[in-house]
Amino acid sequence: MSEIKRIAVLTSGGDAPGMNTCIRAVARCALYNGRDVIGIRDGYEGLLLGAMGPLDAREVGGIIQRGGTILGTARSEEFRTEAGQLKAMQILKEHGVDGVVVIGGDGSMRGARALAARGLPIVGVPATIDNDMWGTNMAIGVDTALNTISDAIDKLRDTASSHRRAFLIETMGRNCGYLAVMAGVIGGAEVVLIPEAPVTIEEVAAKVEDAYKRGKTHSIVIVSEGANILTTELASALEKMDVGFSTRITILGHIQRGGRPTAFDRLLASRMGVKAVDALLAGQTDVMMGLRGREVEPVPLADVVTRQREANLDYYEMAKMLAF
Ligand code: F6P
Repeated sequence: MSEIKRIAVLTSGGDAPGMNTCIRAVARCALYNGRDVIGIRDGYEGLLLGAMGPLDAREVGGIIQRGGTILGTARSEEFRTEAGQLKAMQILKEHGVDGVVVIGGDGSMRGARALAARGLPIVGVPATIDNDMWGTNMAIGVDTALNTISDAIDKLRDTASSHRRAFLIETMGRNCGYLAVMAGVIGGAEVVLIPEAPVTIEEVAAKVEDAYKRGKTHSIVIVSEGANILTTELASALEKMDVGFSTRITILGHIQRGGRPTAFDRLLASRMGVKAVDALLAGQTDVMMGLRGREVEPVPLADVVTRQREANLDYYEMAKMLAF
């Protein structure tokens, strides 16, 4: 592989707190090593439009603490096609880009894998609040989202207790129950519903009623957005079944995607950004940076895009036990 002189960085898919911290780390590490840095706007969509320009050290200043992504992000249909990928390769060549760092979730890593297969030196960095990716214990943004969720649960419990209510709190996560399970543990939920462990409405109702009979003043039910029962469906069923508590719903939605990255996310994003550039400069490609134990290490993109992360059922059981 020829020497990498110009590194481009893009963010893709759903944004996640800490993406900016990572952009800064990638840019500063590359510039420190005497390389040019190009910022690509709006993910693969912007790449196909040639929407990119140089990033200098000052342009990535003052963003370490900002949520969202200064580069913008998008989900691109055209890039999924062969023609789109060939066009992307051509545009990168025209801009003299020798290597790319892609910051994003599983769809973004599939895109990175496709370009790696066409010979582009490319390294991925996992960033998604869902924590649904194989190959890393934590993705950038997860910790901040969990802190946001935990803050919301604390507030909702205050009002739930005052009115003796059951609160159904819906978390994001697509088809992965990670956020819901961890929210259940750290927020002290009575019941958690996740896609990986389907339940019936009757089972949930029995647990909520049991909590009422045991003298609890509230019942917190965390519903992952991908669970087998819809939050609204569950709420109207509980109202009809008379489980003791009256019921209210809070859908946390995109609140979970914004906000200042936590210390954990800033550290993870900085470490992964630096390691991604180091890897490119050392001639590595077709890998994603993963948090494995305490270390940030490269894992093959081929595994990231084909292997399934295991569900956190031990934490699911822990949340159940601690709801006693
Ligand atoms: O992947 C991150 C995520 O926030 C999921 O949890 C959620 O299902 C989805 O993105 C929402 O996508 P959008 O921002 O396009 O509505």
